[in-house]
Amino acid sequence: NNVNSLRLRVASPTSNLALEVADIDWDNLGFGFMPTDYMYITKCSHGDNFSEGELQRFGNIELSPSAGILNYGQGLFEGLKAYRTDDGNILLFRPEENALRLRVGAERMCMPSPTVEQFMEAVKATVLANERWIPPPGKGSLYIRPLLMGSGAVLGLAPAPEYTFLIYVSPVGNYFKEGLAPINLIVETEMHRATPGGTGGVKTIGNYAAVLKAQGAAKAKGFSDVLYLDSVHKRYLEEVSSCNVFVVKGNVISTPAIKGTILPGITRKSILDVALNQGFKVEERLVTIDELLDADEVFCTGTAVVVSPVGSITYLNKRVTYGSDGVGRVSEQLYSALTSLQMGLAEDKMGWTVEL
Ligand code: COI
Repeated sequence: NNVNSLRLRVASPTSNLALEVADIDWDNLGFGFMPTDYMYITKCSHGDNFSEGELQRFGNIELSPSAGILNYGQGLFEGLKAYRTDDGNILLFRPEENALRLRVGAERMCMPSPTVEQFMEAVKATVLANERWIPPPGKGSLYIRPLLMGSGAVLGLAPAPEYTFLIYVSPVGNYFKEGLAPINLIVETEMHRATPGGTGGVKTIGNYAAVLKAQGAAKAKGFSDVLYLDSVHKRYLEEVSSCNVFVVKGNVISTPAIKGTILPGITRKSILDVALNQGFKVEERLVTIDELLDADEVFCTGTAVVVSPVGSITYLNKRVTYGSDGVGRVSEQLYSALTSLQMGLAEDKMGWTVEL
């Protein structure tokens, strides 16, 4: 199998694995980092291609203090999930999409990237090597985190001379502490996540550091997260710190169009197709803050958050609530359709799942 096709170098672990699978409380997983057995790693020089790579014992990695990623943020990450099905299989959800998105991001960030095939093999091998960490059916998933970074030393501003592609995994449950209950968002009116011509449309690490301040302030006030507006007009919806946003009005489901400042989410794209198949009208366009406040339902999508219903939006001290504090009908319907596919409970007519 794929694990055997990669050289397994079982070096002595540099970190103590504090937790064993037997100790995990599968019913209360949440979204926190938990070390597992193996990680995948490969390196290449600037201008070269990545070699086959290998699985190593999970542990710390060594970087020069002058590494491109540490000094100038030359880094990208991805996120995808593996689910264990009722009949004991393991399913990945649209992993080629992550491979392709990483390649687009790598081009923007002046980095070499693994081929789609190499990415797929590496993901499969890492999941299989950590199989015992995949939660039981219905208890969560194994979150897969590929990282691409400039690991070579630089001092003057330039692309790093060496790159590392690494994959680690962690068992996860619900992203928000609310679980599947509606989240409460605040619209940020001062800070922005992305600007036209910038890197908001790729999954570079800096986009995520940039939202921590507003997120922290929002959480301190009791909100779940922050919704960003466009930086030019301060009027059009962009996205939430860690997910895309959708508004529902009647039979129409709208989401901000991908124009370089919004992350092209794989769950976002999948939900648009699922909604279309279920008879909704879907629109990718500019969506105004007024439409958001006037919507019947609002929900967020992302690999980590899946489909998360929004219970309230606060904008300039005005609070709008959706539904009667319950999960909206459309969010519920789309959540159920998507997760049934991801967990192998419904027939995959789209050919989105990859069985290991
Ligand atoms: C994901 O949804 O996989 C992401 O990459 C978002 C991250 C902030 C958890």
